[in-house]
Amino acid sequence: MNRIFVCSIAIFVVYIGWKVNDFMVKPPLPEVEDKWWGPGTPRKVDNPIRNFTIQIPDEVLEDLKYRLDHHRSFTPPLEGIQHQYGFNTNLLKKIVDFWRMKYNWREREKYLNKYPQFKVNVDGLDVHFIHVKPDKVPEGVKVLPLLLVHGWPGSVREFYDILPKLTTPREGYDFVFEVVAPHIPGYGFSQAAVRPGLGPEHIGHMFKKLMEKIGHKKFYMQAGDFGHIILQHLAIWFPDSVLGFHSNFCVVMTPTSYIKHLVSAISPSFPWYVRPDHYDRVFPIKEKIGSRLRETGYLHIQATRPDTLGVGINDSPVGLAAYILEKFIVGTNNTFLEREDGGLEEYYTYTDLIDNLMIYWVTGSATTSFRLYAETFNKEYFASPFRRHPVQIPVACARFEKDFYAADGLLGEVYANLVHLSDHFGGHFAALQFPEVLANDVFVAIQKIRQKNILK
Ligand SMILES: *[C@@H]1O[C@H](CO)[C@@H](O)[C@H](O)[C@H]1NC(C)=O
Ligand SMILES: *[C@@H]1O[C@H](CO)[C@@H](O)[C@H](O)[C@H]1NC(C)=O
Repeated sequence: MNRIFVCSIAIFVVYIGWKVNDFMVKPPLPEVEDKWWGPGTPRKVDNPIRNFTIQIPDEVLEDLKYRLDHHRSFTPPLEGIQHQYGFNTNLLKKIVDFWRMKYNWREREKYLNKYPQFKVNVDGLDVHFIHVKPDKVPEGVKVLPLLLVHGWPGSVREFYDILPKLTTPREGYDFVFEVVAPHIPGYGFSQAAVRPGLGPEHIGHMFKKLMEKIGHKKFYMQAGDFGHIILQHLAIWFPDSVLGFHSNFCVVMTPTSYIKHLVSAISPSFPWYVRPDHYDRVFPIKEKIGSRLRETGYLHIQATRPDTLGVGINDSPVGLAAYILEKFIVGTNNTFLEREDGGLEEYYTYTDLIDNLMIYWVTGSATTSFRLYAETFNKEYFASPFRRHPVQIPVACARFEKDFYAADGLLGEVYANLVHLSDHFGGHFAALQFPEVLANDVFVAIQKIRQKNILK
């Protein structure tokens, strides 16, 4: 009996030692190599940067009108329920009526075409991007390249209000931005991969090449949501290309951070890694875990069966609207699920929101956008070397209250060179909800990063 006990303890200790050792040894990053994600075999393509204008054929619009007029999607909600069971069809009907009767695509197309857009082939895929340079630059003001990346269920449409704020020189700053905002491959007007494996590290690699094709060997970056995940990989893999990274989605998901999280949960009087006044944002952990489960069902299905989900969503504009707009309700403020109007009109217009839906609809990219989850959250992901390498380049984190929260004391686990940390009122779609706040924060943060970099 005694011997068995001692043996078990010994095995346990060896196991723990092995795990701890596993923790300490950083697996090397993969070799950088050129990949080919487009149809056919890898080849040299004649590859100038081409101008691009959105021009959707009438047939697509007629077909859309037909589908918006003929569907059977409005199952009445349960009595007394708003959005707790999912998107409320009374609100959906209101939005779909607006889409059918008031929303004018040809006008919106002009609006969407207001910034210069281009396409260029990178690793076999045509990548669509907006490229805005400042109009007039006063003497002594430096123009800094900024790579700006959207997430899911977003598009470059999120940036239409922030673009002029980033590209207009400001009092008190001796720099301004020239912004490159691409669509992620498989999103909007960027072509989708034809074979498996195009995860965030390879998209990051493609975006680095995109910046180089445009003529920027070194650049700044800004992103939230999946854009952040992509750019974090870029920052880890190609630190020499990145001068600084401003994120409104700094996340910490290292194994040790989970332990620190749990330790902090024990008592509000010793929150350890969490700022005392932020304690209730992170805990009680029970409620947090419950809400994580409730709000991440979409992630699970997109990561495991994107193509099945996509059959319905890519076929029904009404289904697409419910699926995506529900995320705008929860992401903006989870308490808005209890409101009849979902709080959508408080910060957005239906026109803004439908522009974004249209980018998914006219390009038929719902399914290919979902696949990014499958290419990220798969079994390799948890062993991915990228999760074990901190970001060494200067980083700024802007935390919006209703977005994913990473505690102050944990950020250092991933962001070894955190230069700026700020907190703001607002939600997940910061660029669309509060473009002014986000733009101000970018200027303040990049100023600090430049001083650290000795003004690059
Ligand atoms: C391409 O776009 C740029 C910038 O919008 C414009 O100056 C140029 O004339 C366009 N070129 C062609 C061939 O249309
Ligand atoms: C979220 O909504 C609640 C009311 O439902 C409000 O008190 C709170 O200030 C809102 N927070 C944000 C960040 O929008």
